[in-house]
Amino acid sequence: MAANKNLLILPGDGIGPEVMRQVRRVVDWMDKRRAVRFDVQEDLVGGAAIDAHGVPIADQTMDKAMNADAVLLGAVGGPKWDNLEFAKKPERGLLRLRKEMQLFANLRPAICFPALADASTLKRELVEGLDIMIVRELTGGVYFGEPRGITELPDGQRRGVNTQVYTTNEIRRVARVAFELARKRQKRVTSCEKANVMESGVLWREEVQKLHDEEYRDVELQHMYADNAAMQLVRAPKQFDVIVTDNLFGDILSDEAAMLTGSLGMLPSASLGDIDETGRRKALYEPVHGSAPDIAGRNLANPIATLLSFAMSLRYSFDMGEEADLIEKAVQQVLDTGIRTADIMQKGAAKVSTTTMGDSILMALDRMSA
Ligand code: IPM
Ligand code: MG
Repeated sequence: MAANKNLLILPGDGIGPEVMRQVRRVVDWMDKRRAVRFDVQEDLVGGAAIDAHGVPIADQTMDKAMNADAVLLGAVGGPKWDNLEFAKKPERGLLRLRKEMQLFANLRPAICFPALADASTLKRELVEGLDIMIVRELTGGVYFGEPRGITELPDGQRRGVNTQVYTTNEIRRVARVAFELARKRQKRVTSCEKANVMESGVLWREEVQKLHDEEYRDVELQHMYADNAAMQLVRAPKQFDVIVTDNLFGDILSDEAAMLTGSLGMLPSASLGDIDETGRRKALYEPVHGSAPDIAGRNLANPIATLLSFAMSLRYSFDMGEEADLIEKAVQQVLDTGIRTADIMQKGAAKVSTTTMGDSILMALDRMSA
């Protein structure tokens, strides 16, 4: 029999724990109904870890993450920890996971569910059927570049510095992920940078083009300045298939793309490392939305993004595409019947709580596998 699947769950802060509870129910459902055994461990990250251990992620938790087949994370951060110094903030827990697990490729799909097209701030015809995959570089660029810091100048002013830096290999490995994904989709990649003002952008453009010419001539490659891409995303979003971009531009463009779909509460993400000698690849899955402290603990949050993140882990870490499809279809069915959490509420729909959304999805799963 195959070994159990090791899943580390880090619910984190804010709405993280309550949406993750719904995921646990689906994991249990998989155990019972599909006879898929998961070894699930749960641990702390972010503010929760700061409160318990004084650090945004403890070393023991890092060890567990390094050894898990997949990590599923809720969300980190909240007003309680806003005034901590940079290195101690909840967000550093997430950044440490990304960096030490070397999760350089962040996949952020922006898919517009037909039932939700009217929840978008854009017109239905612009977003209906939207299916973009943003591949964001996640372990380099200005997020981690040195030198960084705030220093005092002799005249009493202060100076803040961050460094945007990329190497050939960092660019090529993330571009490769984008080209490979494009091959399974519409075979189009748009690479975004600011080659008109930044040397790191010139390098990015050249290296992506080189890799394309060497290995991916069957994929259509287009280069676009990141500011133009931001504009095109709201002008005509369906022109895009796969977008590949750096850490900072990817952070911004993926939030923008997410909102096109009607709700941040719907979007999952996967962060992947390289495939090692044993064929394994480290991976972390998390919703694109944050910890939403304003609604935390009130049973209002939408658990779908986290559930779909679990579905992505089934697809990319556990080779369980069929089960991933099942969850995605269950979500679709529930939306089609007009069940909505507050964030995606529409006229005439039934507004439900986090737990009732979980109930509905479990019932849909039951129905589909009956
Ligand atoms: C994201 C978030 C993070 C980022 C924060 C929480 C550090 O905005 O995952 O997009 O900037 O990468
Ligand atoms: Mg962000």
